[in-house]
Amino acid sequence: MGLENKHIAVYVTGGIAVYKAAEVVRGFIRQGAVVRVAMTQDATKFVTPLTFGALTKQPVLTDLFAGDNDQFVPHIALADWSDLAVIVPATANVIAKMATGLADDAVSTTLLATTGLKVVVPAMNEHMWDAPATTRNIATLTADGVVVMQPDTGLLAEGYSGRGRLPEPSAIVDFVQHVWAKQTGRLRGRNVMVTAGGTRERIDPVRYISNDSSGKMGYALARAAANEGANVTLISSIISLSAPDSVHVITVSGAQEMLDTMKTYFAQQDAVIMAAAVADFKPVSVAEQKIKKTADNDLMTLQLTKNPDILKTLSVDKTDQIMVGFAAETEHLLTNAQHKLIDKKLDMLIANDVSRKDIGFNADQNQVTVIRPNVEPVQLPQMTKTKLSEQLIEMIADLLPGK
Ligand code: PMT
Repeated sequence: MGLENKHIAVYVTGGIAVYKAAEVVRGFIRQGAVVRVAMTQDATKFVTPLTFGALTKQPVLTDLFAGDNDQFVPHIALADWSDLAVIVPATANVIAKMATGLADDAVSTTLLATTGLKVVVPAMNEHMWDAPATTRNIATLTADGVVVMQPDTGLLAEGYSGRGRLPEPSAIVDFVQHVWAKQTGRLRGRNVMVTAGGTRERIDPVRYISNDSSGKMGYALARAAANEGANVTLISSIISLSAPDSVHVITVSGAQEMLDTMKTYFAQQDAVIMAAAVADFKPVSVAEQKIKKTADNDLMTLQLTKNPDILKTLSVDKTDQIMVGFAAETEHLLTNAQHKLIDKKLDMLIANDVSRKDIGFNADQNQVTVIRPNVEPVQLPQMTKTKLSEQLIEMIADLLPGK
């Protein structure tokens, strides 16, 4: 589940971007991680250890020989404690030390003793970044299994624009979360397709039929799957929500377009989660021009025809994909949902009472019952769509055969 309860050691080395490291630390803490910081002496000239101590509520390691009575070897204690190490900002100097195994201060010594995942986030002058020695060192680190985040291009401290800027703190937190999920998540190496939002069935160039689906449920599921390391394809009719950078978002409009797009990706999927509210009907024809109001059309009839059933159509080509649907019901929740589970040949169906305003369509919370063939329904308590998605992704991961 993302970085929650993970032990992250943040190594701060000396550069003008040190101030941004404080925001990165806050970002990790917001994700539920426990953070400890080590700083080089140069870094302490830009921002004092007090800042990081106050943010983390943990002592900051700056000196190899400053251990208290409990920690005779503080650098080894920090190395052993950490699940992952993030070097931010990483100077050319610390990168060179890491590449050659040099250990001459608290930061480089602790990093040499760290066996877990290391993520380097470089920040330096463009010419230092492009220097052959730095290029060589980065290649060595990558070969050693260290993950390197590419620096941004933009205004440097020197006053000119170039490559070497520290990426924005939120991008760094997302990157680390993504790298961690890809290495340790329950869905690492899996392909998961999620749909979100209500389809839009065109009447004319400026009008459509749709429903109240905001896409929140689908986006939360996509994020939860990505946080578990899945390669996520999100087919969405919504453009107002944002997904993590790692999620491949494809925007569609009507049910037919959603189906055609899903067919393209279906064969490679391990699981398909259909949270979209697909319109059952669409206009028989789409007017080429905006339909005009005239003196004699006080009554207007719109003829509708059935849309394809996406889940049923995909099921025809199903190999071993886990198929998950949602049932939006305003009455006879469980009976109707059981019927849809069988009719659409699903592995799991999430029964959703959409008669309530505080859950379901367009709400931040949801309360659902999970139905599976030949298994007692599991009623989950009301919770945020984010929390619910984490639980549903766990349940779906349980259904996937081992790889
Ligand atoms: O987007 P939010 O505002 O967060 O709201 C979330 C939600 C209420 C939309 C979501 O939780 C939900 O219930 N989605 C399913 C809505 C729906 O279309 O339910 P249904 O009972 O009509 O359809 C059953 C299943 O078949 C659904 O998985 C649906 O995506 C799928 N379907 C429906 C029609 C169709 N032509 N093809 C389909 O594949």
